[in-house]
This record gives sequence, structure tokens and C-alpha cells, in this order.
Amino acid sequence: MTSAMKEASKFAVYMNLFFSVVVAAVFFLASSLSAHAAYGVLAPEDQACLNCHAKNKFGKVSANGESTSLHVSDKAFSESVHNENGCTDCHAGFDVKKHTKGSNPKIGSREYSIAALKVCEDCHKDNVKLYEGSLHAALVRDGNSEAPICSDCHDPHAVRAKSASGPMDDVVCRNCHGEVFTAYASSVHGHARAKQTGKLAANEKKAPICADCHKAHEIKAAATGSRIKDACLNCHKDALHLHKVWLPNVERHFEAISCPACHVATAKRQVNLRLYDSLTNQSVTEKKGVPQFKSRAQAADAKGQGLDAYALQSLLKVFNSDDPDEKTVLRGRLEVSSGVEAHQLVGKEQAIKDCGTCHREGSDIFQTVTISIVRPDGRSIHYDAQKEVLTSPISVKSVSGFYAIGGTRIKLLDVLFVIVLAIGITVPLGHFTLRWLFKKYGKKTSDK
Ligand code: HEC
Ligand code: HEC
Ligand code: HEC
Ligand code: HEC
Ligand code: HEC
Ligand code: HEC
Ligand code: HEC
Ligand code: HEC
Ligand code: HEC
Repeated sequence: MTSAMKEASKFAVYMNLFFSVVVAAVFFLASSLSAHAAYGVLAPEDQACLNCHAKNKFGKVSANGESTSLHVSDKAFSESVHNENGCTDCHAGFDVKKHTKGSNPKIGSREYSIAALKVCEDCHKDNVKLYEGSLHAALVRDGNSEAPICSDCHDPHAVRAKSASGPMDDVVCRNCHGEVFTAYASSVHGHARAKQTGKLAANEKKAPICADCHKAHEIKAAATGSRIKDACLNCHKDALHLHKVWLPNVERHFEAISCPACHVATAKRQVNLRLYDSLTNQSVTEKKGVPQFKSRAQAADAKGQGLDAYALQSLLKVFNSDDPDEKTVLRGRLEVSSGVEAHQLVGKEQAIKDCGTCHREGSDIFQTVTISIVRPDGRSIHYDAQKEVLTSPISVKSVSGFYAIGGTRIKLLDVLFVIVLAIGITVPLGHFTLRWLFKKYGKKTSDK
């Protein structure tokens, strides 16, 4: 071997060594950066905490006899996503020897939980931000003890990866909205969802669960705004088009009728007349801290039998009293009469298709009428009205569009139907004629 060759092989040996050190260092760094402990295996420092906390029925009894659980399941924790972090990532600075003797009198209280949950923000800023803007969070801030905080929906010691649960497992919402869950579970969506086992189908084929329509962290009042309708149409992209085939002026119908009002066969329905600002095109919202709607409605409804046409007029007058534009009007919407019923969606064969179900004098659908306003938190308050407000000549102006349903425009529709039937025109031609005539008629009324 020449000395040059010796040098070269020495160099190779050094390079090898150098690389193995680098590789080992990178490997060490990577492993310490990622998993703190593997799935199902506890890290020794967590095991040390769990020597006490995983004991059966581990808890404490306060001086006043109240008992608080301090139990954390070792199995659930080792299989949770947070096993990647250790106990002390969330419970910083715990000294085993010092914290055991009545160190925190508030454990188990709502106050304690809310304070402890601040830690979620360290790693899940986006979710915390979304949640802070939700109705649930607003209720919590207002002191509502029934509204959910993070740990009501996610046990921090037992959060499992989404991929580890079935399509209908862990529907936390059911803990508090049990009736809605039951209704949902027996709907077309609930049935479809329950059948989708294993990995869920591609997004547009996925049957929705609570969070798909309401958004888990951005819960808003369900009946205000268009976000739920938008969610429906986002999955059912061809729905608008498919309704156009048989329903004239689909946009107007979709605005004036909630989807469940046609798609829940057995529901009781109601016309909800919302106080509406005609200038800003938004629902009128009560000012925070000055609820006026109920007292004004009660004042207008002296007999307490529900607002009649005169009472309705005077209620609107009060709302418009300090406004020369008289911009407060009523906007009608046909909806199902309870939030539970809104979830009983059935297959398309059972949806309301017959125009006469609605466009007929004295239709069952227009027998219950309420007036509503939006509260500062987005939820509405309703007040009963008499069904005659939809047909009385006195309320023509106050109920604007919806007057037509019970009155003159219905008669015109009836006449058209008779003509269509009498001539025996084929269905598509009949609809075409109807749409054409209504375009003309609609123009005439709006020109007035
Ligand atoms: C992801 C963050 C997180 C991790 C990791 C975590 N905890 Fe917690 N822990 C919390 C929060 C938040 C609360 C308060 C929640 C509540 O009261 O509902 C809490 C509460 C507790 C309580 C009070 C009793 C109770 O259940 O409310 C004990 C005891 C506890 N944790 C022990 C542990 C132990 C032991 C570990 C490790 C095995 C651990 N925690 C890991 C976030 C965490
Ligand atoms: C020797 C048994 C024991 C060990 C080991 C132990 N704990 Fe505790 N822990 C307790 C007891 C007892 C309490 C109740 C304290 C009290 O009465 O206020 C408690 C309370 C807690 C609480 C709720 C009270 C608070 O101040 O927030 C948390 C969180 C907690 N322990 C976490 C841990 C963590 C993390 C470890 C590991 C670093 C650990 N514990 C190790 C016995 C133990
Ligand atoms: C120290 C960082 C850390 C903290 C603090 C933390 N988490 Fe996590 N969390 C993680 C990691 C890591 C994952 C798993 C990776 C991922 O999916 O982002 C995770 C995942 C989750 C998941 C999703 C599970 C899934 O895959 O669907 C939820 C839910 C969750 N955490 C809730 C909480 C809550 C509630 C708190 C506050 C009590 C909290 N986390 C605090 C690190 C943390
Ligand atoms: C009302 C119940 C509820 C509350 C309250 C809630 N979550 Fe969630 N969270 C969910 C649901 C449901 C999912 C699954 C979402 C999905 O599949 O679209 C989820 C998913 C997550 C995820 C997984 C990542 C993601 O975005 O899908 C994290 C992380 C998380 N939540 C953290 C938090 C934190 C932190 C808080 C408190 C600020 C919180 N959650 C409050 C119900 C809730
Ligand atoms: C297919 C979409 C969809 C799904 C899935 C869905 N909802 Fe709804 N939810 C609605 C609609 C639509 C309304 C009624 C809105 C309206 O009045 O216009 C509603 C209303 C509500 C309300 C208000 C009830 C009331 O009394 O006014 C709650 C609470 C609610 N949903 C919770 C849930 C829960 C919990 C789940 C899961 C079990 C769920 N929703 C699943 C669409 C959905
Ligand atoms: C810890 C209890 C709790 C949990 C869990 C919970 N909620 Fe709620 N939720 C409430 C309370 C309380 C209200 C306010 C009273 C009401 O309107 O029912 C509310 C209100 C709502 C509303 C507004 C209702 C309206 O009047 O328009 C919707 C929508 C809603 N929740 C959906 C959900 C969804 C979706 C989940 C699961 C991701 C969920 N909630 C989980 C307690 C809970
Ligand atoms: C005036 C009543 C009415 C309203 C309002 C209504 N639908 Fe329909 N919808 C029907 C009828 C009837 C059918 C069945 C049509 C047929 O089979 O020819 C249907 C069919 C459907 C279908 C099945 C389409 C197909 O053929 O595959 C979906 C999805 C649907 N509607 C969603 C919606 C959504 C979302 C809304 C609210 C934005 C809505 N519908 C509003 C009456 C209505
Ligand atoms: C996440 C996507 C998604 C959302 C959001 C969604 N759906 Fe669906 N919907 C589906 C799927 C998938 C099916 C098919 C179930 C089956 O046929 O097995 C379905 C079925 C239906 C059907 C039955 C159609 C038929 O052929 O009989 C109607 C009606 C319907 N949805 C209406 C709605 C309404 C109304 C909303 C909003 C309140 C809504 N959907 C929101 C995915 C969605
Ligand atoms: C579930 C009840 C319902 C059904 C079914 C229904 N409609 Fe309507 N229709 C309404 C409501 C509500 C309005 C809006 C009233 C208003 O704003 O004045 C409306 C409005 C109309 C308008 C007036 C649109 C405009 O430009 O103002 C026409 C035309 C009409 N419907 C025709 C029909 C025909 C034809 C059918 C059957 C193919 C039908 N509707 C089925 C409830 C219904």
C-alpha cells in the first residue's frame, strides 16, 4: 500500500465515522423532537405520576365532604394523541412531593377547568380562536354552566386520533343535545353515516354529522344567517339545478322556505315573520342589555291572544317610531316548528312537491305564525301571532311578500292550474307557461 493509498483509506474511515455521528445526532434530535412516547407505551416520567393518579378511584375528599376524582386512566392516556406530550407539558412545574396536600382546593370546579384549559392555546391556537368566537363560548363567558368548554368535548387525557374512531363514535354533542342526536340518527344522513364504516368516503360523498353542518368550534345560532343552507348546497352541488326542473323561482323558494320545511315529511310547520332591516338587508338585532321586543309585543297584544293584524301594525310602528325611513319590516320564512324536527330529513320521494300543499287557500302549512327578533347572541325570541295576519287586508303592508301566500296571488295560481289541467298540457309545457305568466305577473306587482 502506498502512503497515498494509506492516507486515502484513513480519510475514508474518518469520513465514515463523521457521517455515522451526524446520522446518529440527526436521528436522536428527530426522535426527541417527535414522539415523547410511542402509542400504547408510557414514558417513565408519566408513569411516575400515574403510580398515584391511575390508582382505582384515586381522588380526594374535601373538608365539606365533597369528593373530586383525581383519576387518570393509564391505558387511555397511553393510547391518546397527547401521549406524545408528557403530563408536565400541560401541568408545568409539578413537584410530586409538594403538590399532594391540599395544594389546589379548586380541583374539579368549573373555575379550575377553565383556568387549566388555557394551556391548549400553546399548541392549538387556531382552534382556540375559532372557539372564542362561537355561541358556546359566549354562553360560557356569560356564566352559563351548561355550555361546553374544550374539556367537555375532548377529555385532555384521552383524546384519540380521529382516524381511530368509527363514523358514529364519540359524537360528544349528544351528551347535551340528546334529542337532536336521536332525530339525526334516524334521518337519511344518520342512516347513511352509520353505514360508512372504516375510512370515510371522499368529502362530497360523506354523509354529514353535527360538525359538518354546524362547524365544531364555530357554533352559531342555527336559525340565523345562511351558513347551514350554504353547507347543504356545498355538498349537494347540483341541488339548485335539480329543483329548477320542477320548481319556478327556486332562489325565492329557497330563501322563503328552510330546506327541512320541505324535506321533513312529518314536521309541524310555522311561518316565522322576522323583524328585518330593509336598508341593511339584515335581521334586526336587539341591543345588548336592552331587551325591548318582548315588552313591546306584550304591550301591543293587550288581550294576550297573540298579535292580530292591528297589533302587528302598532308593533312595527313602535320599532319605526324613531326612524323616518321606516326601515323595519317583516320577512316571512316557512320553517319547521322545532330544532329537533329540523334533523328528521327523509329521502327525496317523501319531500313536498305538490304546489297546492302551500299555494292553496287555508293551507295547513300557514296555520301557525310567530314574530321573531334576533338576540345579541344570535338566537331568536319568538312571539305568537294570529294566523289571520297572513290574509288580513290590514296587514298587507306589514307582512309584505307573505301576504300573497294566503291571498290574491294564490287565487291566481289556482286559476292557472285549472287552465293548465283543462287544456291538458303536458307537465313541462304547463310549468313553462306558469313560469312565463308568473314572470309577467311578478313584474306587474313589483312595478306598483
Ligand atoms: C394536553 C394537556 C394535558 C396533558 C398531557 C395532561 N393533562 Fe391533566 N389536565 C389537563 C387539563 C386541561 C385539566 C383540567 C380539565 C378538567 O378539569 O376537565 C387536567 C386535569 C388533571 C387533573 C385533575 C383532575 C381532573 O381530571 O380534572 C389531574 C389529576 C391530572 N390532570 C393529571 C394528569 C396526569 C397524571 C397526566 C399525565 C399522565 C396529565 N394530567 C396529562 C390537561 C392535560
Ligand atoms: C404520591 C402520589 C402522587 C404522585 C406521584 C403525583 N400526584 Fe398529582 N396529586 C396527588 C394528590 C394527593 C393530589 C391532590 C392534591 C390536593 O389535595 O390538592 C394531586 C393533584 C394533582 C393535580 C390537580 C391539582 C392541581 O394542583 O392542579 C394535578 C394536575 C396533578 N396532581 C398532576 C400530577 C402530575 C403531572 C404528576 C407527575 C409529575 C403527579 N401529579 C404525581 C398525588 C400524586
Ligand atoms: C404541548 C402541546 C399540546 C397541548 C398543550 C395540547 N395539545 Fe392537543 N395535540 C397535540 C398533539 C401533538 C396532537 C396530535 C397531532 C395533531 O393531530 O395535531 C394533538 C391533537 C389534539 C386533538 C386532535 C385529535 C385528532 O387527531 O383528531 C385534540 C382534539 C386535542 N389535541 C385537544 C387538546 C386540548 C383540548 C388541549 C388542552 C387541554 C390540548 N389538546 C393541548 C399537542 C398538544
Ligand atoms: C362543542 C364541542 C367542542 C368544543 C367545545 C371544542 N371542540 Fe375541538 N373538536 C370538536 C369536534 C366535533 C372535532 C372534530 C371536528 C371535525 O371532525 O370536523 C374537534 C376537533 C378538534 C381538534 C382536531 C383538529 C381539527 O381542527 O379537526 C383540535 C386540536 C381541537 N378540536 C381542539 C379544541 C380546543 C383547544 C378547544 C377549546 C378551545 C375545543 N377543541 C373545543 C368539538 C369541540
Ligand atoms: C344536515 C345538516 C345538519 C346536521 C348534520 C345537524 N344539524 Fe343541527 N340543525 C340543522 C338545521 C337546518 C337546523 C335548523 C335551522 C333553522 O331553524 O333554520 C339545526 C338546528 C340545530 C339546533 C338548534 C335547535 C333549536 O332548538 O333551535 C341545535 C342545538 C343543533 N342543530 C344541534 C345539532 C347536533 C347536536 C347535531 C348532531 C347530532 C346536528 N345538529 C346535526 C342542520 C344540521
Ligand atoms: C356541555 C354541553 C354541550 C355540548 C357538549 C354541546 N353543546 Fe351545543 N349548546 C349547549 C348549550 C347549553 C346551548 C345553549 C342552549 C341551547 O340553545 O340549547 C347550546 C347551543 C347550541 C347551538 C345553537 C342552538 C340555537 O338555539 O340556535 C348549536 C347549533 C349547538 N349547540 C350545536 C352543538 C354541536 C354541533 C355540538 C357538538 C360539536 C354541541 N353543540 C355540543 C351545550 C352543549
Ligand atoms: C318547495 C319544497 C322544497 C324545498 C324548499 C327544498 N326542496 Fe329539495 N327537493 C324537493 C323535492 C320535492 C325533491 C324531489 C324531486 C324529485 O325527485 O323530482 C327534492 C330533492 C332534493 C334532493 C335530491 C336531489 C336528487 O335528485 O338527487 C336534495 C339533495 C335536496 N332536495 C336538497 C335540498 C336543499 C339542500 C334544500 C334547501 C337549500 C332544499 N332541497 C329545498 C323539495 C324541496
Ligand atoms: C357533508 C356533505 C353533506 C351535507 C353538508 C349535507 N348533505 Fe344531504 N346528503 C349527503 C349524502 C352523502 C347523502 C346521501 C345519503 C345516501 O343516499 O345514502 C345525502 C342525502 C340527502 C337527502 C336525500 C336525497 C335522496 O336521494 O333521497 C336529502 C333530502 C338531503 N341530503 C338534504 C340535505 C340538507 C337539507 C342539508 C342541509 C341541512 C344537507 N343535505 C347537508 C351529504 C351531505
Ligand atoms: C312548501 C311550500 C311551497 C311549495 C310546495 C311551493 N311553493 Fe311556491 N312559494 C312558497 C312561498 C313561501 C313563496 C314565497 C312567498 C312570497 O315571498 O311572497 C312562494 C312563491 C312562489 C311564487 C312567486 C315567486 C315570486 O317571484 O315572488 C311562485 C310563482 C310559486 N311560488 C309557484 C310555485 C309552484 C308552481 C309550485 C309547485 C311546482 C310551488 N310554488 C311550490 C311556498 C311553496
